[in-house]
Amino acid sequence: MPGLFDPLTVKGIELRNRIVFAPVVTNFGLRNEQTARYYAERARGGAGLIIVHGTPVDLFLHLSWVQKLKPLVEAVHREGSRIAIQLWHGNELKGEAVAPSVQGPCRGISREEIRTVVEKFATAAVHCRDAGFDGAEIHGAHGYFINQFFSPLTNQRHDDYGGSLEKRMRLALELVGAMRRAAGERFLLLYRHSAVDGELQGATVEESIQLGKALETHGLDILDVSAGRGQKDNLSIPESSAPEGTHADLAGRMKAGMSIPVIAVGRIQRRTVADGILREGKADLIALGRQLLADPFWPQKVREGKENEVVLCTYCNTCTEEMRSGRPIYCPQNPDLGKEAEA
Ligand SMILES: Cc1cc2nc3c(=O)[nH]c(=O)nc-3n(C[C@H](O)[C@H](O)[C@H](O)COP(=O)(O)O)c2cc1C
Repeated sequence: MPGLFDPLTVKGIELRNRIVFAPVVTNFGLRNEQTARYYAERARGGAGLIIVHGTPVDLFLHLSWVQKLKPLVEAVHREGSRIAIQLWHGNELKGEAVAPSVQGPCRGISREEIRTVVEKFATAAVHCRDAGFDGAEIHGAHGYFINQFFSPLTNQRHDDYGGSLEKRMRLALELVGAMRRAAGERFLLLYRHSAVDGELQGATVEESIQLGKALETHGLDILDVSAGRGQKDNLSIPESSAPEGTHADLAGRMKAGMSIPVIAVGRIQRRTVADGILREGKADLIALGRQLLADPFWPQKVREGKENEVVLCTYCNTCTEEMRSGRPIYCPQNPDLGKEAEA
């Protein structure tokens, strides 16, 4: 079984270890020096892969906009980490509220419009690749637009995109296929999925496992297993009372049917927990979100046997509250968060 600091090569792209910085919205803005320094600090601290937070896919349609992310990409690469960015689609299309099918203020999206969504992700992947990113992650989790297609609670379509599991998976599979065809082989494609069971998304873990297998067949490189429906419940950002490694069993169940690497996330903080997840074969990569806000040097300290020097996240969720209120995230444990200095 791999160790936390063993490298992992995917599609010829080497990650120096098994530690991933999970996508975390900052409200710092994206194309500015401070954000580049913020991410570079997490790379300097030793993470093997950084996933930049969820960002609307529409922003990536203009190469000139994406090219301005190059300083951020280069700053992370200089510190030895790989970098991907999470592409997010919400319930808005050309200023109108849309969903898989009628839902609150949203009208059902048309097949023609679904095609334009797929094309957007493909174009975004090419532009991310050209700006130097090692990969892109589709945000297919947490109850957002793409996840809504998977869930029978939010997808009541009667065409090729709704009904049976095969049809509810179709959008996800088309996204991966189109991005792969457009961006080529040497670009990592990641997919974040909420593998939560039952009433929350009206689908079973067994159906999530089928999705994982199908994504792999369609060219996915890494599956990122989360849970929950975003702001509508407390699973996607686990509460402080949640057990450490809270979603790791879901990752393990999905991984059992797949051969591509799987990421586990959720309240992972102690080395013994991270090692245990890898050792038990529940995941190939371990993602830390809030802990790397509190202390970006967690990987380095743990590697050097100085875990007792780690500034621990208390999971107070101040960052979450700030993020949801639209303010820049703030961490009571780390006064330097968002004020990282030049190396
Ligand atoms: C402030 C904040 C912002 C987040 N933003 C995103 C995001 O953009 N995309 C996403 O998929 N998950 C997001 N998450 C969820 C994290 O990626 C992660 O899955 C979750 O926090 C559990 O990991 P942790 O316990 O190590 O923090 C966010 C979490 C927090 C606390």
